[in-house]
Amino acid sequence: MDASPSPDQLSFPAAWRHPHLLDLERLSAAEILAVLRTADQLKTMTEGCRRKVPLLTGKTCANLFFENSTRTRNSFSLAAKRLGADTVEFSSSGSSVAKGETFVDTAKTIEAMGVDWVVTRHSTPGTPHLLARELDCCVLNAGDGPHEHPTQGLLDMLTILQHRIGSDWKNEAADPEKVFAGMTVALVGDIAHSRTARSNLWGLRKLGAHVIICGPPTLVSHRWEELGFEVAHRLDEIVHRCDVLNLLRIQFERQKARPFPSVYEYAALYAMNGERLRHAKDDILIMAPGPINRGVEITPEVADGPHSVILEQVTNGIAVRMASLWLLANAKENANASAENLS
Ligand code: CP
Repeated sequence: MDASPSPDQLSFPAAWRHPHLLDLERLSAAEILAVLRTADQLKTMTEGCRRKVPLLTGKTCANLFFENSTRTRNSFSLAAKRLGADTVEFSSSGSSVAKGETFVDTAKTIEAMGVDWVVTRHSTPGTPHLLARELDCCVLNAGDGPHEHPTQGLLDMLTILQHRIGSDWKNEAADPEKVFAGMTVALVGDIAHSRTARSNLWGLRKLGAHVIICGPPTLVSHRWEELGFEVAHRLDEIVHRCDVLNLLRIQFERQKARPFPSVYEYAALYAMNGERLRHAKDDILIMAPGPINRGVEITPEVADGPHSVILEQVTNGIAVRMASLWLLANAKENANASAENLS
């Protein structure tokens, strides 16, 4: 067990310069690893994300959610509070959006109340990128339609690192592009509509993992092969090769037509169950971003079994979000200080 470091032992990583966290596709391996190392340190410092460390006292984080959320919204809120910041909770239902106020005007209104970060979730891809251009404060993407969910990708990678990669990755001398070398991770399910899949596959590959994208042909395009990912349409053919399975929910709410005849037929081919677990590696890690649909992508015996780290992913969500808020706020302050020195 690591000794709890004090807050002044947290040093700002030279690799990080961004005032916004919008996606993982455009981050480098070194930048991703910088967030993961900071998250790991903050998790230890806050004794498993439970204790307060006043690193962001006096700042305010606004959650602007235009879609439902349990994990992401609450863990951003807790992350801000653990670091001493205040929070503002906005939900589109019950707001002046119903009176015709636009998305950008709503965000600018909340920003004018004096916030340092806007965390946004919206069904339209690119909305956080739009806010990053329109607002002066830091912007974090908490999920933009089927595009990306960067903090989910980061918390998934942190969970894999903590379980499977020893401690070499914490060393500054580690090569960021080889941290996951030799590791095979399969993303299984509704890839077509999954922002979690996109953030995971970019992030995992940058850090050196072999990524398999698995699901029905209606939800997993062979175009992914053109980008260098392995595509599989039968879980039974790949399960024995995987070190990690990340089981994604079928997102019926985003589908225009049903991509398979019935949930029963989907589960027969793709649900991770006890029988499939018998063909997997002894130390396979079972993950799911949640919410999980028991009996569809995962059976209760697997979700609640010894290989499952689903609830640990939730705890790591607070760690990654603490790291993101702290890194963005410091990058913004550093940029403002540099601009003042130049003027
Ligand atoms: N994984 C995830 O984004 O969960 P929520 O929709 O509950 O935030």
